[in-house]
Amino acid sequence: MKIVVIQGPNLNMLGVREQNIYGPMKLEQIHAQMKEVATQNGVEIEFFQSNLEGELVDKIQECYGDADGIVINAAAYTHTSIAIRDAISAVNLPAIEVHISNINRREEFRKENMIAPVCTSSVVGFGPFGYHLAMMGMFQIMNEIKAAQEAQTAQQPA
Ligand code: DQA
Repeated sequence: MKIVVIQGPNLNMLGVREQNIYGPMKLEQIHAQMKEVATQNGVEIEFFQSNLEGELVDKIQECYGDADGIVINAAAYTHTSIAIRDAISAVNLPAIEVHISNINRREEFRKENMIAPVCTSSVVGFGPFGYHLAMMGMFQIMNEIKAAQEAQTAQQPA
């Protein structure tokens, strides 16, 4: 099982940018924690960050046939990007979106969300811990898919 974690613009600045909103943790630290938990659970995990919309679209497309699930924080593109939304829709993989801050309690423009309607679920406002919650959610989804596949195989005549 493989999860790809996709991080959008300015998330490489975590630990520096607006610490009052996003906290002191750096992206590398968040990824190190996720990697540890993934390894403990026998799950492969890959991380990708870009400030460019097209690169994020490319990475989502690459997940098709390569990954079993996507954890994505599209950052500011969440509120504007139909291209990222369409890419998530196109690959048709379980996708969980994460927002470190609670985007529903901030400026009005952050309430506009292009990504959420094509994601399996959203985790918002838990700080960096949201990535851990998203990963736990993804494990659960994977287990449910596996159980459903096994049940279907068991039903098929020999
Ligand atoms: C963010 C929220 C977005 O509105 C913002 O543009 C970000 C980070 C979050 O994780 O809280 O860059 O996605």
